[in-house]
Amino acid sequence: MSSTTAKSRKIIITQALPYANASLHLGHILEAVQSDIWSRFQNNSGNECLFFCADDTHGTPVMLKAKEMGISPEKLIKDIQKDHEETYKLYDINFTNYHSTHSKENKKYSELIYSKAKDNGFITRNTINQLFDESEAMFLSDRFIKGTCPKCGAEDQHGDNCSVCGATYDISEIKDPISVISNTKPINKESEHLFFDLPKKIDALKEFLANGDLQQPITNKLNEWLNDDLQQWDISRDAPYFGFEIPGEENKYFYVWLDAPIGYIASIDNWATKNKLDMSTLWSENSDYEIYHFIGKDIAYFHGLFWPALLSAANFKIPNGIYVHGFLTINGEKMSKSKGTGIMAKEFAEICDPETLRYYFAAKLNDKVEDIDLNFEDYVQRINSDLVGKYLNIASRCSSFIAKNDNKLSERYDLNLIQKISSQHDVIIEHFESRNFSKAVRLIMDLADITNKYINDNTPWKKDKDEAAYIATTALNAFNILTIYLSPIIPKITQEAFKFLNQTNQSFNDVEKKLEKDINKYKPLLKRLDPIIIPEEKNMTEENNYINIDQFAEIDLRVARIINASLVEGAEKLLQLKLDVGEIGERNVFAGIKTAYNPDELIDKMVVLVSNLAPRQMKFGLSEGMVLASSDNKGIYLISPDSGAVPGLRVK
Ligand code: MSP
Ligand code: ZN
Repeated sequence: MSSTTAKSRKIIITQALPYANASLHLGHILEAVQSDIWSRFQNNSGNECLFFCADDTHGTPVMLKAKEMGISPEKLIKDIQKDHEETYKLYDINFTNYHSTHSKENKKYSELIYSKAKDNGFITRNTINQLFDESEAMFLSDRFIKGTCPKCGAEDQHGDNCSVCGATYDISEIKDPISVISNTKPINKESEHLFFDLPKKIDALKEFLANGDLQQPITNKLNEWLNDDLQQWDISRDAPYFGFEIPGEENKYFYVWLDAPIGYIASIDNWATKNKLDMSTLWSENSDYEIYHFIGKDIAYFHGLFWPALLSAANFKIPNGIYVHGFLTINGEKMSKSKGTGIMAKEFAEICDPETLRYYFAAKLNDKVEDIDLNFEDYVQRINSDLVGKYLNIASRCSSFIAKNDNKLSERYDLNLIQKISSQHDVIIEHFESRNFSKAVRLIMDLADITNKYINDNTPWKKDKDEAAYIATTALNAFNILTIYLSPIIPKITQEAFKFLNQTNQSFNDVEKKLEKDINKYKPLLKRLDPIIIPEEKNMTEENNYINIDQFAEIDLRVARIINASLVEGAEKLLQLKLDVGEIGERNVFAGIKTAYNPDELIDKMVVLVSNLAPRQMKFGLSEGMVLASSDNKGIYLISPDSGAVPGLRVK
């Protein structure tokens, strides 16, 4: 179990490796924020915590997605990894290293762990009968088969369960199976597969469940599976497969779930090599580090059974614990694209300051496996009332009294208030340590309330300059401590707050230090949030992609002249454009063209505007339409009418 008394613990954490076949959504960010807050907290409070991740690149979905896009899987995973890393950066996720499972390190460790497990007698062989798609020359896993439910006769059901009657069944029972890849009828074909002898590791697993740091419901579930009946685990896939070939076999590949968790080790090894560190101290049989995995509840089986068993079979250290979180729902519902709640993380970062989402998640996260709801109204209200109204309000209220005192803090302060705030240090640490971030947030906001009340009760605005500075100095010292407490949750805002207070590198051990230096002028660190509106995505009918002339006519395209173009502070890709659209008037539009155009060269340029696009609230302001441009990987090209066209003309 974890302890806060032992100083200078050495800890390695990981979050689950996101699949390299799609962009990140807000559920991924929930996990990243949970891991990142915990890691920052550990480092801020005197321990060493390293945080590793990578993209999970292998398997059939990646292979098929690349094929559908007409690119190689290597190209796909490279593009997606770039996209993932950019997205995590927006949310300030502070990885020690981010790597890929399609890497030489992962190949090395996959082969090593497999061969050790094999040498130790844990790999078996068996011939299985599997559905085979002849036109694609590939074996089909359950998810690539549809057919008629053997129980109720409903058509078009998934390989192993029926969405109509709820039955689950074995893939061999489904009637009239069809390959979803080629829409052809698969045949039965025999194939020899390699298996990991999971049942043989039952004792090691029992010990892991007894001693590991796991949440009770997870231990119960894993025990249930353990006592049910453990099966041999199929770890090979036949070609074609995007993955690592199994040494000593022909046309056989490691199943993606074999090499995926090994990707944790590969990411560490990649970092150790870059930093000339000894891998054996990091993760080997005898590691110096405590190791914890942060994961979602859907992958507890892999991390709680297969993974420790495999590590144990290959003589590697078993993790100290697994920290499981529930699923993110949005406005009470499962995330869904068509309902406008399947929000991509990059998109959301344009609507709200990512820091505010970190705060909201922290306010909801605990050590339970329960699902967590992101409710937009609650979110806006929370941020405005807690961060703007309580926490930052202290700084903005007090700074003026210090300004009137020649920007000097007073020599004395009211220890009574300060002790109330600093004495909660241990309790707050305990909440962070046990991943009860919601409790930490509640307590910190209570302390902010106490501080605001102190200001109200002492009415500095009615006092002389010295007395007012004394009150403000006290409250600003309280603000400093609150900033330390909040720093793992909102690293950017608190860093700015420390700059305002003229402090650097504040840690949890500094809560008893008094502010000594002159403070800087206060600039607002966060704007109040406006109500969040997520544009709904249209359900495209799958039969054809044509639109009719009426649908086209619904799009109001207009010639427009750029009257003004300017940079947008804090936006990497956006320019703010002011457009003259003739009879329609003027429009403000944010366009993602900064990488291709200087604002100056755009003035007076004629462009085409989609004028009846629903206005979209971005964190920089309201965007009223969209200018047309095309792009490829070399550049962005605005579409302009020939000379003669005047602002306001309809384009059709
Ligand atoms: N690639 C595997 C993990 C391999 S780890 C060796 C995977 N990838 S994933 O992209 O599907 O999910 C990555 C993580 O995000 C998982 O921990 C998963 O539980 C989590 N989440 C996916 N959807 C989620 C929500 N809606 N809410 C919260 N977490 C979610 O699984
Ligand atoms: Zn059915």
